Amino acid sequence: MELDRVFENNKTWITKKLEAGDDYFEQLGKGQNPELLYIGCSDSRVTAEDLMGLGPGEVFVHRNIANMVISIDLNVMSVVNYAVDHLKVNHIVVCGHYACGGVKAAMQSADLGILNPWLRNIRDVYRIHRDELNAIEDEDKKYDRLVELNVKEQCVNLIKTAAVQKAYRERGIKVHGWVFDVHTGKLIDLKIDFEGYLKNIMEIYHLD
Ligand code: CO
Repeated sequence: MELDRVFENNKTWITKKLEAGDDYFEQLGKGQNPELLYIGCSDSRVTAEDLMGLGPGEVFVHRNIANMVISIDLNVMSVVNYAVDHLKVNHIVVCGHYACGGVKAAMQSADLGILNPWLRNIRDVYRIHRDELNAIEDEDKKYDRLVELNVKEQCVNLIKTAAVQKAYRERGIKVHGWVFDVHTGKLIDLKIDFEGYLKNIMEIYHLD
């Protein structure tokens, strides 16, 4: 890819934005007030704002391999805390995607070096849901289901944080689990039972 193309694209993009309003960038420079925190996979096909039809200023984004919410990952935890405590987002989305290379890699019996501890968290999801997953014969369907279950478990991981528990009490923040189907472009709401999970795990994970 010629990187010059990127700068040409940027010029076109600026022109388009200014057509919509002369003060577009003046307004953008004033600050951000997004309502949504999106945690997705780094996969180049899953483009966050683009697939949701949202623009600059509308969504706070964090992406990593296989959209993981790991309690000792300072990066994702800083993003969650900043978005919830300071930007006061009202919704957090964990968005996985079918055909996720990270999820597939996690299930291979290979030493992947520094990726091992990261992907190990996905093996843990498999272990928790082993009976359901082992009952699925079709390999692709099994991976797709693991993608969905991984999203659910990362939503549960969000509920375990003090920031989300506090924001739920104070303003009823909501956690959503979605999957992007790369084969059709569709965004699927897994309709996770956020309040049900919250009630169910608070006995153990209550933090105040
Ligand atoms: Co992925």
